[in-house]
Formats: sequence, C-alpha cells, structure tokens
Amino acid sequence: MTGTADLFTPVHKGLRAMLYDLSDRLQAHDFADLGATKTLARDLENDFQVAQSAGCVLCGLAFHAVEEEAHIFPPAQKVGNGLIPILIEEHHDLSRREVEIANDTHALLELSGASERISAGTALNQKVNDLLVAYLAHMNREEVELVPLLRDGFTDAEQGAWQGAIVRSFPPDRMMALLSWMLPAMNVTELAEFMGALQRGAPPPVVKAVADLGAAKVDSARWNEARSRAGL
Ligand SMILES: [Fe+2]
Ligand SMILES: [Fe+2]
Repeated sequence: MTGTADLFTPVHKGLRAMLYDLSDRLQAHDFADLGATKTLARDLENDFQVAQSAGCVLCGLAFHAVEEEAHIFPPAQKVGNGLIPILIEEHHDLSRREVEIANDTHALLELSGASERISAGTALNQKVNDLLVAYLAHMNREEVELVPLLRDGFTDAEQGAWQGAIVRSFPPDRMMALLSWMLPAMNVTELAEFMGALQRGAPPPVVKAVADLGAAKVDSARWNEARSRAGL
C-alpha cells in the first residue's frame, strides 16, 4: 500500500451521526402531533425534489452519492476491480429509497386524522430503518474495499486533488451543514489534523467560521484538546 489518503471515512462519520440522529428522532416521534410532524418532515426532506436545502437529511445523503460519482469514481474505475459499478448500483438503490421516503412523508402530511398519521408514521419509520441499514452497509463497503484500492492505485496528492474539487463544488451553506455533523463525529486526532490542514490551506475567515462551528458543536474538552494540538 502506497498512500494514506482516506476521502471517505471523515464524511461518512458525519453521515452516520446524521442517520443515527434521524433514527432516534423518528422512533420517539408522536405522529399524532401535526405541528411537530411538519417540522420533522421539513428536516427530513425539505425541498428534496429541487435539492435546495442545505440541512435536509435526505438531501445530504443524495448529494454525497453525486459527489462521489462526479469526482472520485471516474478516476477510480481504473483500479476498481468491478467494484465501482456495484457501488453506483447501490447509489441508485439508495436514491430510490430516499425518493420513496420523501413521497411517503408528503403523503403522511396530507392525512387528516391522528390515527392515520400514527399508522403511516410506523411504516415510514420502518422504511427509514431499511434505508439506514443499506446506507451503513454501503459506506462500510467503500471504507473497507475501496479505500485500500485507491491507496494502492493513486498518490495522496492525486486523491487530495479530487477532494479539493469536491470542496470547491460545495455551496458554503451546505459545507457548513455537513461540517456541523462531521466535526462532532471525529475523534480528537482527526479533528486536530482537520483543523491543522484547514489552517494551512484555507483563508482566515473560513478557518474562523469552521472554528466557531466546532466550538459550538463539539464537546468542549475534545474541542479544546484538538485546538491546542492544531495550534489554533
Ligand atoms: Fe457511496
Ligand atoms: Fe460514501
């Protein structure tokens, strides 16, 4: 193995935290409460069809697959050993599930009675559980099978260039939404390395914005340790 780059695990940690949070909220949710259900629906799939919402859970999952297919999978084909078409097919399956969940959520909000919403909420929760299982398995496959292949086939600089293209493609509000999940999901070593790299490569206002986000989202002991290791 030649390289050490891992473009997948840090962002996957954030997506896993997002999925666990969704799962926690859904299984404790009172679908009889229409106001709270509207809030839950907005967080889950607001504007999913036009993909405008920076914070929506299903948007984050869908964007992630698009970014991998645009910036990583094309060059990775050459070392993919047939893995890339399988991962793309999994993306299509995940996307079908996400659209179905978005449609079911719209339909649930149109129901007039609390008992109908409770029944539909149970079914929605079960569908999201199935999505969660499939998404977790997919991300693990990328980390276990694809990361080593990419380390063998490409230099860290080559993979860094793909990562740079992904970062540049992000609207700032979506980047901050994703980082609000990623930062608290990283361990202290990863956080220190991430903030150190940011400090070396990003303009000071960006470093400050991300540091402010970290201070707000990460527990204070871990954040302070990471800051001091990064020399912030
Ligand atoms: Fe993927
Ligand atoms: Fe992924």
